This record gives sequence, structure tokens and C-alpha cells, in this order.
Amino acid sequence: MRHLMSPLDLSVDELDELLNLANDIEKHPEKYAHACDGKKLATCFYEPSTRTRLSFEAAMLNLGGSVLGFASADSSSAAKGESVSDTIRIISCYADICAMRHPKEGAPLVASQKSRIPVINAGDGGHQHPTQTLTDLLTIRSLKGRLDNMTIGLCGDLKFGRTVHSLINALIRYPGIRFVLISPEELKIPSYIREDVLKAKQIPFTEVERLEDAIPELDVLYMTRVQKERFFNEEDYVRLKDFYILTREKLSLAKEDMLVLHPLPRVNEISVEVDDDPRAVYFKQAQYGVYVRMALILTLLGISVE
Ligand code: CP
Repeated sequence: MRHLMSPLDLSVDELDELLNLANDIEKHPEKYAHACDGKKLATCFYEPSTRTRLSFEAAMLNLGGSVLGFASADSSSAAKGESVSDTIRIISCYADICAMRHPKEGAPLVASQKSRIPVINAGDGGHQHPTQTLTDLLTIRSLKGRLDNMTIGLCGDLKFGRTVHSLINALIRYPGIRFVLISPEELKIPSYIREDVLKAKQIPFTEVERLEDAIPELDVLYMTRVQKERFFNEEDYVRLKDFYILTREKLSLAKEDMLVLHPLPRVNEISVEVDDDPRAVYFKQAQYGVYVRMALILTLLGISVE
């Protein structure tokens, strides 16, 4: 039995296979419509979500399976003090696979150690968000045709943004990847990623504050929201929340084929006037999230479709 806690739980070959499967699902959805008949997915979300929870549920329904779960800690027995270890033992009696989001880093890992069914980390605190990374990789590979030899700009809340941490870990396995880390001083990438990942593996990167300076050289611009829920005081959040706003004017400095990604939800960091630009692919990205989660459910359940 396999779980998914981090994108690194999949080798590069396994990841390629998963992305190929997701592309096949995109092209031939009817082939997969009954692949999970009789199977159940539990979504255990202790933190708010629109995309991740609903795309997991859509993925299982598209595969012919069923879904059950809870959308907040308040509506589960966590509100009465039940631990994730006990909860997953119970969920193992009701479902075949579980996607779990939790505000505490490592909570889905703790759950996986007590689980009798595959557990997928659907986001744990400011730590990792591996299925968002699978979504991002599928989007980039499908629209650019490759995952190597690119300059990737990561912009916004690089300190608390778990999607950024997971994406860096995944992309450094491909040759010719270079990062431009665009953030205010207070929201710089954590040192465990700068020192232990980027510097330790000799991945080229620069850290800058102004988006306008960085944008002309980028192949992909990955915008992120300032993570209000991880701030300790409101004053800091208010000061930093509108630090970056991608406007049509700033986008005019970018390459014609640069992609703009965003894990969403967006607050103010991308002006709605950018939405109609062909380089803005964040809504397409959410659609790719369904295909890749379908592929992941099939892979972890060991179901293959001829
Ligand atoms: N991208 C993402 O994780 O969105 P949700 O918080 O809506 O699931």
C-alpha cells in the first residue's frame, strides 16, 4: 500500500507515467468512467478548500466511484477532541482511499502510519501540497511540452506558501531548471529550502523583490496569495497582502509564451484584466487538477485500464 505525502514519494519515472495517464484521461474520459465502480473516496478536510476537495470528489465520481467525508474540523469529531490517528482508523472501515487536509504540518503523515487505506496529503499547514504540485507539473508539461530547461519565477508568499515548497522540490529533479524567487523580505523562502534544497543541490536561483525586474526572463510565472491564515498578526498581513499585483501593464514585459500559473484562490495578486490573456492559464490549471487526481486515485488503488 502506498500513500502520497510529498511529490518526492514518486520517482521521476513514476511521475512521468502518472502525467501520461492524466493526459490519456483528458483525451479519453469515457475509457475510465467505470474504473472505480464500487470504490469509495473519503475527503477529510480540517481546513477550508474549494479546489482540492471538490476536484478530488469530481475525480472519484468521474471514475464511477463514490465519495464521503467532512469539509471542516467543526463538522467532525475532531471538535470533540478525536485525534487524526483514531479518525483514520475509523475512515479505514468506511472507504478505500482518503484525501486529508490539515492545518498541522505532518498530520496526514501521522494518519498514514495508522491507516489501512492509502492516504493522500491534500495540504498540511505551510509544509507540502503534493497534489497541487502534480497539477502544476501537468499544466506546465501539457502547455510547454517539457519540464526541463526553464526559468521559473515564484512570486508572493514564499514563506508560508506550501504549493511553492512542494513545486521547488519536484522541479529540481529536472535538468536546466532555474528559479527566480520574488518576494518581500518578510516572505522570503524558508532557509530549509534555500540552504538544504537549492544550495545543497546547486540549483541556480536568484532572490529579488521587484516583479517588473524579473518578469522578462521567465518561462513560467507562478503567482501566490499571501497566506492570511498563517500570519500571527493582522497588521503584518494588511501591510503585505497587496505587495504584488500582476496587471496587464506588468504582463506586457513578459515573453509571448510565458505561462502565468496560480494555485488559487486569488485575492488581489492578479488583476482580473489579466484573465483574458492567453498566457493566463490558472483556470485551465484547475481543470488539469481533476485529471491528475483521477490518475493518482487509479495509481494508488492499483487499478489499470486497458
Ligand atoms: N489550490 C488549492 O489548494 O485550493 P483550495 O484551497 O481551494 O483547495
